[in-house]
Amino acid sequence: MARTNAFLHPAAKPVLFVASLLPFAWLFYGAATDNLGANPQEYLVRATGDWTLRFLCLTLAVTPLRVLAGQPALARFRRMLGLFTYFYVVLHFLSYSWFDQGFDLPEIARDIAKRPFILVGFTAFVLLTPLALTSFNRAVKWLGARRWQALHKLVYVIAVLGILHFFWMRSGKQDFAEVAVYAVIVVVLLGWRAARRAGVSPQPAATTARGAPSASRPPATRARG
Ligand code: HEM
Repeated sequence: MARTNAFLHPAAKPVLFVASLLPFAWLFYGAATDNLGANPQEYLVRATGDWTLRFLCLTLAVTPLRVLAGQPALARFRRMLGLFTYFYVVLHFLSYSWFDQGFDLPEIARDIAKRPFILVGFTAFVLLTPLALTSFNRAVKWLGARRWQALHKLVYVIAVLGILHFFWMRSGKQDFAEVAVYAVIVVVLLGWRAARRAGVSPQPAATTARGAPSASRPPATRARG
């Protein structure tokens, strides 16, 4: 039977992969052509932070969109979006370590301990690391589905820490407009999950044999294409 769902098309994942690399390509091109404004180093630190938060929100949005739109195939993209979140946070951390600290490790450690907003961002980064490392099917077998699901619930804590980090950073200038937009997105996405767990919102289009919510379902048991 012919496939009619674009999300199941063999090109869908490569298209998403290329699209997810575009911000990186844009920043790389801007840096190479000296087109990042008066302070390119600050621009790079901030832009990579922004893209980390955007990919985090996109990753969290997959399950609600999948359920509300009745599109189980969307689950195919969650892992890739999660790994791109990690890709951008690594770039963010490297930009900070290079441009702000000149790769001086003792100085980085002191700065993390000294500035609370850096500590919060660093904690989110540390918590994201095991999620990235265990995003592969073999890790689910190794950990067991239950432990894998418990570990991946950390994504909620990471999202809250990401918002707190952004809020704290902007509090010096009392400039909260952008922070508020991301905070609303995260609250809606996390609120939706909480409501669903409490049985308030619609059930997913597909559930596991045990009826476990797919939000934290291991990759091996998700819809594949
Ligand atoms: C999940 C983890 C993280 C997220 C979501 C995140 C997100 C952000 C965002 C949204 C911004 C503001 C960008 C803007 O002003 O447009 C930012 C700025 C910044 N972040 Fe992060 N960040 C994370 C982790 C880290 C880590 C690990 C460090 C360093 C240890 C760090 C250091 C900074 C610095 C230095 C700035 C810029 C501050 C300034 O320009 O005054 N962040 N981050």
